[in-house]
Amino acid sequence: MTARCDAGALSINYVGVTAKSVGHVHGITPDEFSEIAERVAQEHTALVTQRTQGVVGFYDLYKDEATIARIEETAQRFLARGYENLVVLGIGGSALGIRALHTALGVPYHNWRTRAGRKGYPRLFVMDNIDPETFAAMLRLCDPKRTLYTVISKSGETAETMAQTLIVLDGLLKKIGGEGVREHLVVITSPLDDPERRSLLHPLVNEYGLTAFSIPPNVGGRFSVFSPVGLFPSAMLGLNVRALMEGCAVMDAATQSPHLQQNPAYLFAAVHYLMDARKQKRIAVMMPYRDGLIDVADWFRQLWAESLGKRYSVTGHEVFVGQTPVKALGVTDQHSQIQLYREGPNDKVITVIDTKRTGKRLRIPNLLENIPELEYLRGGTLNHLLHAEMVGTVQALLQSQRPVLQITLDAVHESSVAQLLYMLEVATAMAGRLYRINAFDQPGVEEGKRLARELMLKLRR
Ligand code: PA5
Repeated sequence: MTARCDAGALSINYVGVTAKSVGHVHGITPDEFSEIAERVAQEHTALVTQRTQGVVGFYDLYKDEATIARIEETAQRFLARGYENLVVLGIGGSALGIRALHTALGVPYHNWRTRAGRKGYPRLFVMDNIDPETFAAMLRLCDPKRTLYTVISKSGETAETMAQTLIVLDGLLKKIGGEGVREHLVVITSPLDDPERRSLLHPLVNEYGLTAFSIPPNVGGRFSVFSPVGLFPSAMLGLNVRALMEGCAVMDAATQSPHLQQNPAYLFAAVHYLMDARKQKRIAVMMPYRDGLIDVADWFRQLWAESLGKRYSVTGHEVFVGQTPVKALGVTDQHSQIQLYREGPNDKVITVIDTKRTGKRLRIPNLLENIPELEYLRGGTLNHLLHAEMVGTVQALLQSQRPVLQITLDAVHESSVAQLLYMLEVATAMAGRLYRINAFDQPGVEEGKRLARELMLKLRR
């Protein structure tokens, strides 16, 4: 059995989760792989049916040529107005995707650069919380006259986003007046022409004649990164939307196989499911060794948690399933988490993400030659050091019988990042089938929202 699955710009090495590497108690045996492979092949058929019947829509977002063309054309029109700021108002699935894409594909310290350093693209503020200190600071930093606000809410009912929208609208009305609102506010919500899915944002769109994009009804928030939710802000920030779509197409093709070892998404799902169900690895750590990928881990944290953390199975039985996803950053968290991961409870499966190539090479100078202890650094590069530390950490984890999955991207670019995200979405769909739960709802979030609304009514009296 080979222990690697290559697909497009991505490769998964799973030798570190096998019994051969970490022992039978913590690692997956060949029999366990064979057994789960059969289940995966069966569940593949169910997923294909869900897709072809249009029950689950995220798979095909990248094919929506008309929407993609409209996004590009609209972004060009707004970019020509030269905004200094793009402020995204949204939470959960409406915020984490664009943050993941921008952190991975934008330039580091984007907001701190001059306009020229940002190649003329606006600064980005993703407002996914309602802490008044932060929101007020954003309002101070972003002059409404030089800002494009993008409100993203599929339901159009989310309290946080709607409260933010009211505050922003108030500022626009005061500074610009009702006539100008349409040049500063874009709405992404459920389709305007669907009477069954009325969004509270529809009246706002109609009143001010705003530009609006639709989130298809069969695409949930956390699966919406390749809908206008992620793509319109991406286009506004100069990311190559076409290359993102190409990455989705590559990974769609690579995840057609029902065979575990040929399908990176199914492999990822099956390994995590077995680790949880058979090896008591209740925690799934995602640890990229690239700063730019940390928000991919954050996006994945929501995807995995909200999709799989469920009380009831699809047949209505109480199951209380779901791994707890944790994000960590290499090498930073080697000095924060690795002690726990190596010597604490053996309850984690750790996915390390690395890239074959980095954009920049940074040489460590031949200085301080009177300190022989630094000889190993001199003349090397930060790239060598980063790689050596990753390899060293993985080896140390395996020596302690801690299961490690390794994902390697060729490099960080639009296509490879889209491939990674798409692969993780398909993996989540498959994991939902393996756990026998509905990966596409979130009943546990709804109740909290309802209670908060009731309390808010009392508080404001
Ligand atoms: O994945 C999900 O469905 C959620 O995280 C939502 O994205 C989040 O609750 C925000 O919902 P909405 O887009 O309706 O404002």
